[in-house]
Amino acid sequence: MRVTIQDFLKKKKDGQKITLITAYDFPFAQIADEAGMDALLVGDSLANVVQGLENTLPVTMDEMIYHSKMVARAARSAMVIGDMPYLSYQVSLPDAIRNGGRFLKEGGAHAVKMEGGREVADTVAAMTRSEIPVIAHIGLTPQAIHRMGGYKVQGRTEKEAEKLKEDARILEDAGAFALLLEAIPAELARQITEGLSIPTIGIGAGPHCDGQVLVLHDVLGLFDRFVPKFVKKYATLKEDAAKAIRHYKEEVEKGVFPGGEHSF
Ligand code: KIV
Repeated sequence: MRVTIQDFLKKKKDGQKITLITAYDFPFAQIADEAGMDALLVGDSLANVVQGLENTLPVTMDEMIYHSKMVARAARSAMVIGDMPYLSYQVSLPDAIRNGGRFLKEGGAHAVKMEGGREVADTVAAMTRSEIPVIAHIGLTPQAIHRMGGYKVQGRTEKEAEKLKEDARILEDAGAFALLLEAIPAELARQITEGLSIPTIGIGAGPHCDGQVLVLHDVLGLFDRFVPKFVKKYATLKEDAAKAIRHYKEEVEKGVFPGGEHSF
């Protein structure tokens, strides 16, 4: 059975945590789906961890759809969420609906995520009216890297915190079915979470959110260009992969591989 928006809401009501992880391709999406994750986010973080870019701004809709298709093909029970890339929703409402709709129509996704506070409320409402379920994303929004002056914790001052609390309420009223909170103080995330009837999903937002999300490559230890404080590494796949590849090279060079059992 596919995880639905209603399951998200029920989990919040029942006090059960919602589990999300990013995924960008078939094999890892399959592993995460089989591990029982509630949702797979095809994040525009693929810019950093797959494409080797400095930030998420260059990612295109076509690239996101390409990855969303692979993830959707693997996801048997997890909800698939497509991340709206920079300039896919900021220019106009028709653009936003068309691009959001592409995730559902072509990308096999069941929902989309969009960065921004009150300034995207009309877009959230228009997309929701067009049957595109939306997760809104506030706090540290990586597409705003140049305005924010880097990847910095948000909502530290009282004024900023109040604004984020208001944004959260406005986005809930606009129809978002969940709210992603990135890099904000845990106490602020608790207040936002308690003030909403939709679930909050945290990344660097402490333990009081209704669910958590992390970037797959961080969880597996596949990405070490920068590791934010909020990341917990559950495996060391980069080292493991390097070891395996070195071993293979060594065996080829020594004439150990291929052996008889690998030959016809
Ligand atoms: O693109 C992404 O991976 C994100 C994170 C917040 C999970 O938006």
